[in-house]
Amino acid sequence: MPLVPLRLVLDHAAANNYGVGAFNVNNMEQIQAIMEAAKETDSPVIVQASRGARSYSQDNYLRHLMLAASELYPQIPVVMHQDHGNCPATCFSAIKYGFTSVMMDGSLMEDAKTPGSYDYNVGVTREVVQVAHAMGVSVEGEIGCLGQVGHAPAAPAKGEAAHHDLETEKEPGDTDGHAASTGGMDTSHLTDPDEAERFVAETKVDALAVAIGTSHGAYKFKTKPTGEVLKMSLIEEIHRRLPNTHLVMHGSSSVPEELQAVIRQYGGTMEETYGVPVEEIQRGIKHGVRKINVDTDCRMAITGAIRKVFAENPRAFDPRDYLKPAREAMKAVVMARMIAFGQAGNATKMRAAGVIK
Ligand code: G3H
Ligand code: 13P
Ligand code: ZN
Repeated sequence: MPLVPLRLVLDHAAANNYGVGAFNVNNMEQIQAIMEAAKETDSPVIVQASRGARSYSQDNYLRHLMLAASELYPQIPVVMHQDHGNCPATCFSAIKYGFTSVMMDGSLMEDAKTPGSYDYNVGVTREVVQVAHAMGVSVEGEIGCLGQVGHAPAAPAKGEAAHHDLETEKEPGDTDGHAASTGGMDTSHLTDPDEAERFVAETKVDALAVAIGTSHGAYKFKTKPTGEVLKMSLIEEIHRRLPNTHLVMHGSSSVPEELQAVIRQYGGTMEETYGVPVEEIQRGIKHGVRKINVDTDCRMAITGAIRKVFAENPRAFDPRDYLKPAREAMKAVVMARMIAFGQAGNATKMRAAGVIK
């Protein structure tokens, strides 16, 4: 089956009251993990690539890996989505490389850090919608800004390597930094329901990302989040006003204690931290959340598995010795989310309903 637009999958999810995980990828093993999880749970899937992922893996590799996935799993509807496009040009180049869905994140300016004005956001998002829709590609927009990492880990101690990612000059544990410099828990960047209503009417986006207190990465909350910091009530209010709009939750990794424990057990450093509980996401799904972005949990599963192999077998040097367990560990996380979000079993249902061939 060819790659399908996001709208097709989210319309089915809305009609059948489930959510769909959108999992980030940077390489073949991550794509394989997601596709195997989708096969085992019979789930439609959203595979997404950030700008950093596209630059790391290169568009041609990514495109052909995704085409391979759709060839190898013809029974699974697969969306290929650009995560956090920072300007129309990024979205247009994604479309050129075969992405079937793009996020124009105009909540931030092109530097992916400075909050953009409402008018700027509407302008760039509209521009992308006009082109994308003419080509059968779906568009996700964002209103309100995700938080800066909730409680950043301490800087490396003196003498401890402060490794920088070669491509992005980021600190380990950070994402590419697609987040507003809001100074942590400042609530002024949360989504304003009035603006959300206007934004959808003015841009005609297929899906709307909303800011409800989450942030990217592992360090979201210092304690298990309450309604004060994770504003699920805001989702409910936005859904009341926009019952026909597919809502998107970013920064939705749960950062499970078990995955933290594996990383620590095998020599990694992770301060105590809390993510978005799966039951809160399930509450969101009852109120219009259809796309749930998860990257950090997959990264943690991979890292824990690789650390375990190296700790238990210091002589290992065949990449397959650690990439296979890493792939399995990510697959297990993705399967668990697919089941919890309710997308499991829906690939067959989409075909039976004639939504896809
Ligand atoms: O947007 C956040 C995702 O986790 C992607 O992270 O930009 O480091 O690839 P990245
Ligand atoms: P996490 O860092 O919580 O996995 O969020 C990923 C995300 O929102 C990608 O856009
Ligand atoms: Zn995101």
